[in-house]
Amino acid sequence: MKLSMVIPTYNERDNIPKLIQKIQEEFKENKIDGEIIMVDDNSPDGTGKILEDLKKKYKNLKVIHRTGKLGLSSAVLDGWKIANGEVLGVMDADLSHPPEKIKELFWEIEKGEADFTIGSRYVKGGEIKGWTLKRKLMSKTATLLARIYTKVKDPMTGFFMIKKEVIRDAELNPKGFKILLEVIIKGRYQTIKEIPITFINRVEGKSKAGTKEILYYLRNLAGYLSYKKKVIKEFFKFAIVGGIGTLVNVVILYLLTEKAGIYYIISAIFSFVIAMTSNFILNKIWTFEESIKSETAKKYLQFGLVSTTALLINLIFLYLFTEIFGVYYIISQILAIGMALIINFLGNKIWIFNK
Ligand code: GDD
Ligand code: MN
Repeated sequence: MKLSMVIPTYNERDNIPKLIQKIQEEFKENKIDGEIIMVDDNSPDGTGKILEDLKKKYKNLKVIHRTGKLGLSSAVLDGWKIANGEVLGVMDADLSHPPEKIKELFWEIEKGEADFTIGSRYVKGGEIKGWTLKRKLMSKTATLLARIYTKVKDPMTGFFMIKKEVIRDAELNPKGFKILLEVIIKGRYQTIKEIPITFINRVEGKSKAGTKEILYYLRNLAGYLSYKKKVIKEFFKFAIVGGIGTLVNVVILYLLTEKAGIYYIISAIFSFVIAMTSNFILNKIWTFEESIKSETAKKYLQFGLVSTTALLINLIFLYLFTEIFGVYYIISQILAIGMALIINFLGNKIWIFNK
């Protein structure tokens, strides 16, 4: 199989000669039939000129020059358009992604073990070096949000490979930074394999991820709901289970207090636990369609934790709306239940029922 690696550049003058040389060595040592497609957005630092010079040296190097900074995702898509390989790859130009891992990502596809491979920082053995705490937190948050849609541990990485067929019928959005997530959501594939990598923060040049990229990301994320209708279905089922739980709670409270003669505060504790347990079982087998046996004890504890947190959030919003914004307390409670429901659902979807 032939491999086409696309590498978008914007002001990467000091990184590309070394990167391209390393990739060429990797191709040669591992007998990979590969080409490199650089997509430069008219970098003011003269990256384009350096690429033209390098093109004379390497005959498997293609260069696309675009008119201006048109964005990372669209650069990748433009590169793939002229690719000859059956396998399409992407990596960053700033030496953050280890070229030594190209072979592993490629071989898994070549051997037929996967049709989609990801250089992952968030699987065992993967790592990030040199990021500030702020950048790490932002990456983690973005990653967690993406887990609403995918089990992939690192759907935000910029280093991955696919078989060409994966995106044959997909309409990929060229706006933004997160082309991998686009492919995960819209592509057609059987097996994804994540391979651990160490991401090393760039030494030369500056990161181009900014506020605009974050806003694009959030907008794209909302748009993915229409591709993943399953999430909407799960949300409604989850809400219904919540309703059933409330009913169970009240009925048991009544029965224990009136028929069994138990003090109502004690009954309330029992009825809460029973309702939570029935909610757990219903969500596990009906909402999220898991077998009842898989990791039941662990998930039950997690479920208890998320439920309690949701209750706390409910109370906090109830208080805020009523006391700070002067909303009538019944209306506050309706709003607060809505907020708590969404957070409760996300907690369940992202943390508990996402294996
Ligand atoms: N052609 C082109 N046009 N290239 C671009 C543009 C653009 O508008 N913006 C960025 N690039 C290139 C950079 O030159 C670099 O090679 C690569 O895209 C990644 O950009 P960086 O600026 O280095 O991004 P980062 O290090 O902050 O983010 C990386 O890590 C993230 C993981 O958290 C990227 O790999 C992201 O895709 C990834 O999500
Ligand atoms: Mn970078």
